[in-house]
Amino acid sequence: MAFQNFLLLFLVAACAFAVAYGKLSVNYYSSTCPKALSIIQAGVAAAIKNETRMGASLLRMHFHDCFVNGCDGSILLDDNATFIGEKTAVPNNNSIRGFNVIDDIKAKVEKACPGVVSCADIIALVARDSVVHLGGPSWEVGLGRRDSLTASRALANTSIPPPTSNLSALITSFSAQGLSLKNMVALSGSHTIGLSRCTSFRGHIYNSSNIDPSFAKSLRQICPRRGKDNVLEPLDRQTPTCFDNLYYKNLLQGKGLLHSDQELFNGSSADSLVRRYASNPYEFFKDFAKAMVKMSNIKPLTGSQGEVRKNCRKVN
Ligand code: HEM
Ligand SMILES: *[C@@H]1O[C@H](CO)[C@@H](O)[C@H](O)[C@H]1NC(C)=O
Ligand SMILES: *[C@@H]1O[C@H](CO)[C@@H](O)[C@H](O)[C@H]1NC(C)=O
Ligand SMILES: *[C@@H]1O[C@H](CO)[C@@H](O)[C@H](O)[C@H]1NC(C)=O
Ligand SMILES: *[C@@H]1O[C@H](CO)[C@@H](O)[C@H](O)[C@H]1NC(C)=O
Ligand SMILES: *[C@@H]1O[C@H](CO)[C@@H](O)[C@H](O)[C@H]1NC(C)=O
Ligand SMILES: *[C@@H]1O[C@H](CO)[C@@H](O)[C@H](O)[C@H]1NC(C)=O
Ligand SMILES: *[C@@H]1O[C@H](CO)[C@@H](O)[C@H](O)[C@H]1NC(C)=O
Repeated sequence: MAFQNFLLLFLVAACAFAVAYGKLSVNYYSSTCPKALSIIQAGVAAAIKNETRMGASLLRMHFHDCFVNGCDGSILLDDNATFIGEKTAVPNNNSIRGFNVIDDIKAKVEKACPGVVSCADIIALVARDSVVHLGGPSWEVGLGRRDSLTASRALANTSIPPPTSNLSALITSFSAQGLSLKNMVALSGSHTIGLSRCTSFRGHIYNSSNIDPSFAKSLRQICPRRGKDNVLEPLDRQTPTCFDNLYYKNLLQGKGLLHSDQELFNGSSADSLVRRYASNPYEFFKDFAKAMVKMSNIKPLTGSQGEVRKNCRKVN
């Protein structure tokens, strides 16, 4: 009998452990807003149906939210006469997109359960649902993040690495968030989807030594030395709307679009990870999902910290 009780306790504890990620828990809304996850998933499917690039844009939004004071929805706050937010920080201005999609999803979730589901959790879920919708791996998203009352343009300027970064700068930036080299190389596989502006890869195609010459030449036709800053080019030319491991195969050929991409395969300790993910898509998927869980858990506000915003663009 005693042994059975012990066993039962053990099983309950094991289950509780399986659904909890730090302070967050997968079932956080299961009684307070049981429809939240399906509303969000449907919203992501509709947004990607309307514009295939949107899945990539939503994934990136989560990254840029989490790297600035944690995953707290701070990226969503609008600037106004008395408030400066993160939307106009260098890495985000004219670059981060999908704010209307978040607004639409938030409005639907608010209608179902007013004041319950945070904007920070919505971003974490849309990132996961976008990757799954485009053929990538899935993972369980711990929930219960609360929304920030503040934002930091200064920190957004400095915490999100620029595409001109060398490998040591990338390692420093990710390790400041508790993410390893392996996490960083796996998360960079996000560049298997989505687009980049000419201004983000110009330096690489005119000045880098480690780039396939014919690749550089063809990009110079699209992205001149001056002007056309906003011309778009897929980060993975072959399958820009499919979440696969071609990003790493491109790096093996010197065909990374951003300088920071090619830094991952340039004769360093990262080379072996790039080779591994290029030859084994399942290893990539597994490590990507693990790293996303870790990134999604960066410094969440929980309990009575922050708030659940009614409108993601504005503090209540
Ligand atoms: C390793 C450091 C990283 C650097 C330097 C970097 C830099 C960039 C840059 C410059 C762009 C193009 C933006 C533009 O021109 O408007 C971009 C796009 C993108 N990034 Fe990253 N990134 C990094 C890591 C990540 C991570 C960790 C994720 C997600 C987990 C991510 C997801 C994306 C996606 C999906 C796009 C395409 C967005 C779209 O089409 O709207 N990136 N990144
Ligand atoms: C659909 O995508 C277009 C851009 O391709 C955008 O202008 C429009 O607002 C989107 N509509 C909805 C309902 O999301
Ligand atoms: C953001 O981009 C807009 C449009 O290009 C520009 O007018 C504005 O000065 C930029 N803001 C910052 C803070 O760089
Ligand atoms: C962020 O960087 C931009 C461009 O360098 C600069 O104009 C702005 O003042 C910076 N903002 C803060 C708060 O550091
Ligand atoms: C990498 O970039 C950082 C920051 O720009 C710089 O201080 C450092 O010297 C660079 N390291 C190498 C090895 O080029
Ligand atoms: C390439 O490097 C040269 C010399 O350092 C510099 O003057 C130029 O601005 C760079 N071009 C780009 C597009 O980064
Ligand atoms: C690759 O390494 C070389 C030699 O250290 C360096 O000059 C170059 O900037 C690095 N990265 C790229 C993308 O060329
Ligand atoms: C400006 O934005 C801040 C942060 O969202 C908000 O607290 C404040 O009420 C806003 N001011 C106006 C006039 O909307």
